[in-house]
Amino acid sequence: MFVVGNWKMNGSLSLCDDFIKNLKFRENCVICSPYIYLYRFMGAGITVGSQDCSQFKNGSYTGDISCEMLSKFGIKYAIIGHSERVKLYQETKQIILQKTYSCVENAIKPIVCIDNNFEELLREFIHIHDKIIIAYEPATAIGTGVIPTNEEILDVVKKIKSLGQFTMLYGGSVNSKNIDTLKSIQQIDGFLVGGASLKVDEFNKIIESVKE
Ligand code: PGA
Repeated sequence: MFVVGNWKMNGSLSLCDDFIKNLKFRENCVICSPYIYLYRFMGAGITVGSQDCSQFKNGSYTGDISCEMLSKFGIKYAIIGHSERVKLYQETKQIILQKTYSCVENAIKPIVCIDNNFEELLREFIHIHDKIIIAYEPATAIGTGVIPTNEEILDVVKKIKSLGQFTMLYGGSVNSKNIDTLKSIQQIDGFLVGGASLKVDEFNKIIESVKE
């Protein structure tokens, strides 16, 4: 199992250095820091991902960063369609599709976030199921401490895996206290962690619990 840390718009250079010094089990995790901190991890043996990417190739898109730029910079993963982007920036299914395909074309593994309404989107990805990762993140669980039961999560995992053999993460209020319970969900391949990925000790505990 592996663990993806989503720092969101948090962190600092000193937090990067804390992780570079103290992160254990590096082979089992990915850190998605804000773009401007990603360079700090280069050469430190830590796999990094971005929290978004542009749906466009290049051109007049002020503020955007293309998948080609990310890929050439050494980025291996990108979180796509996080519920915060859908809610706050009105990211549509079309944009999520474009971003996902752009990642795949540039050898970046997209971590596509989905809520309970996933079927239509996932059908678009069945033929590239081995090139993407699906993160099931119920909006009600993000940052709330309120997570579904293992049985409820398993139900969704089964539905998704019956559509295609996707690699699947669960995300939403994962921490070092609930990880032992969550990791027993069958067919789960890992976890997407927000708040609890901002403290290296807490993050180490989560990875330690799930590493094989
Ligand atoms: P959380 O965030 O772990 O703080 O709930 C998860 C996410 O938004 O990816």
